[in-house]
Amino acid sequence: MASKTLLRTEKLLKLLSDGKFHSGQSIAEELEVSRTAVWKLVQKIQDWQITVYSVRGRGYQIPGGLALIEKESIEHALATNNKLFKELILLSSIDSTATYLALDWKRNPGRGRVCIAEHQSAGRGRKGRPWISPFGANLYFSIGVELPLGLSALGGLSLAVGICLCQTLNQLTNEPVKIKWPNDLLLDDKKLAGILVEASGDTTDSSFLNIGVGINWDMQREQGKPIDQPWANLKDNLKRKTSRTEILQKLLVDLDKALVDYLEFGFSNLVALWPQLSGMYQKEVSIHLPNRIAHGKEIGVESNGALRVDIDGNVKVFHSGEVSLRKKLWPKED
Ligand code: BTN
Repeated sequence: MASKTLLRTEKLLKLLSDGKFHSGQSIAEELEVSRTAVWKLVQKIQDWQITVYSVRGRGYQIPGGLALIEKESIEHALATNNKLFKELILLSSIDSTATYLALDWKRNPGRGRVCIAEHQSAGRGRKGRPWISPFGANLYFSIGVELPLGLSALGGLSLAVGICLCQTLNQLTNEPVKIKWPNDLLLDDKKLAGILVEASGDTTDSSFLNIGVGINWDMQREQGKPIDQPWANLKDNLKRKTSRTEILQKLLVDLDKALVDYLEFGFSNLVALWPQLSGMYQKEVSIHLPNRIAHGKEIGVESNGALRVDIDGNVKVFHSGEVSLRKKLWPKED
């Protein structure tokens, strides 16, 4: 989108975020454009999956309003507490924060940064799946950081990220948030969040990490329809009212610290936390591998992040695969 149109679209969003009706004329005056241009801008925000009512004689309204993410408060939290992530980019809409950050880093490597978006038109999940990203409904962010660790020393890092997110979110929710190895967070056995870690660099000295996180916040059933598994919203399960901005502040401060700790101690000192945080610990699971499915009992993780599974009394270790709870096979009745 041309930058002028984007600025006007953002201005329109701010105006309509109060949930009240605004006449086409008053918006046109505020944005210094024609009423036809206002109508076109409304189409643009509808493309971001935002519901806008248009009522003759009253104007335009976003029903329920929008609580937009507040950049300054998050910037303040980063500047005060953080060692690694110091810069914040907040975008209204982008194809994917992960793709944006990878390109941004190529152009301008160096300081650790965070890219947050209100909407992604081509959000990416693991294994090439799409990540459904309607405007303002969820949290979508990517962290770009360079660590003085070679690729071979990164085992367990994505689990360390998952553990950190899980612990922070657990301070906010009534029901416990659990981890599903390797990178999903579950609430009430439904997917709450996903993590996508992309690492590049050399095998020995340093690596660039692009850590993408998507957390379902208040997605409407209709918006989440394309998702092929049960999913949950964080907003439905909070101990007290909070905002996406406040949650982002906490998550980014805690993640920064978790990565600093990872640099010092690695993953080994987090291994002991696995039993209480895994949603599948000591349960019968199926591990879906490219050419077969293995069945056994999940019994923990290794210090390199691999999953430990008891298969018929033997401990097997898995470095990849999709884990699911094993469906019960009821004994056949005679
Ligand atoms: C998964 O498949 O579970 C991982 C999902 C990761 C989604 C996040 S949303 C922010 C960042 N940008 C993307 O395009 N993907 C990640």
